[in-house]
Amino acid sequence: MKVILFGTQPYDRESFERIRPAFGFEVCYHRSHLNASNVALARGADAVCIFVNDVADADTIRELAAMGVKLIALRCAGFNNVDLTAAARYGIPVVRVPAYSPHAVAEHAVALMLALNRKIHRAYWRTRDGNFSLHGLMGFDMYGKTAGIIGTGKIARELIRILKGFGMEVLAYDLYPDEAYAAGAGITYVPLEELYRRSDIISLHCPLTDRTRYMIGDVAISQMKPGVVLINTGRGQLIHSEALIDGLKEKRIGAAGLDVYEEEAGYFYEDTSDRIMDDDVLARLLSFNNVIVTSHQGFFTREALDNIARITMLNISEFEVGKKLTNEVRAESDR
Ligand code: NAI
Repeated sequence: MKVILFGTQPYDRESFERIRPAFGFEVCYHRSHLNASNVALARGADAVCIFVNDVADADTIRELAAMGVKLIALRCAGFNNVDLTAAARYGIPVVRVPAYSPHAVAEHAVALMLALNRKIHRAYWRTRDGNFSLHGLMGFDMYGKTAGIIGTGKIARELIRILKGFGMEVLAYDLYPDEAYAAGAGITYVPLEELYRRSDIISLHCPLTDRTRYMIGDVAISQMKPGVVLINTGRGQLIHSEALIDGLKEKRIGAAGLDVYEEEAGYFYEDTSDRIMDDDVLARLLSFNNVIVTSHQGFFTREALDNIARITMLNISEFEVGKKLTNEVRAESDR
C-alpha cells in the first residue's frame, strides 16, 4: 500500500514516522497542498492523505480516480474541502479522523477567550517595553456570564465542561439537539436568535456546510449583544469576514478570537513574514487590538498529532484488508 501525504510539515512527518513501522505502508510526504494543478504528484499512490487546506474538488478527484488512487484519507475531522459527491461518483471512499483530541481544540478556544478578555496579548508587549500601566486592559469576570455555543458535538462538550467550571451559564444551539446531554450538562438549547441576544461570549463548533456557510454575517451580528466576544475554532467560512470587520468597527463585537479564516489557505501554516500581505481583509483583522488570529492551531498538541497519525493509519489499514470503514464520511453527512 503506497500512501502519499500532502500539505505536510516536519511535525507531521515525525508523528507519522513514529507509527509507520507498525503498519508497514510505503509513505511519501509532499510539502505542497493537493489541488487540481498538482494532482499529478499523487501518481502511484493507492491512498492520498490530506489536511484542512488541501482541496479535493471534483476535478482533482476525477484525476485521482484516473491514476488509480483508491482512498482519500483526511487526517482531520472537517471534510468540507472534499467533494464527497464526486468521490462517491468515482467510487473513492473518504475516511477522516473524527476525534483526535477534542480537548486540544476546546482548550485553545478557552485560551482565546481568556487572552482576549484579560488582554494578555497586549499586556505581554507592554511589560516587555517597561510599560506597567493597566489602562485599557480591564476585563470581565467569566463567572456568572453567559456563553452561547453553536454546535454541541465532541469539541463543544469539552468546552462546555470547562466553561461550567468557570460558573458560566451555557446556552446552546444545534441542528440536532441532544436534550438528554443538555439536562445532564446543565445547559439549555435555545433558538439562534436568543443565543445571539443573550450571550456574552459566542463560540462556533458546528461543521462548515451549505447551511452554516457565513451563518455569522450582518444579520446575526446585528442581533448580538453589544461587546460580545466571538470565538471561531470551527471553519473560517462560518463567519463573513467583512461583516465581522464592520461589527468590530461599530463596536458591536467586543473582541474576536479566530483560529480559522475563510481565505486561510494562502497563509496559514506558512512563514510569509518576508512578503507583503496582499489580503486586505486579513490585514484589517490583524490591525485590531481586540482581535487575535491564530494559524489553525487548535488541534496542535502532542496528544492530538499522535492520535491523528495512529487513526489515519488504522483507517488506511481497514481499507487495505477490506474491512468496514469505521470513519468513512459520505455525501449526506453533516454531523
Ligand atoms: P462533531 O461532529 O462532534 O460536532 C458537530 C456538531 O455540530 C454536531 O453536534 C452537529 O449536530 C452540529 N451541527 C451540524 N450542523 C449544524 C448546524 N447547521 N447548526 C448547528 N449545529 C450543527 O464535531 P467536532 O469534533 O466537535 O468538531 C466541530 C468542528 O470543529 C469540525 O467540523 C471542524 O470544522 C472544527 N475543527 C477545528 C479544529 C481546529 O484545529 N481549529 C480541529 C478539529 C475540528
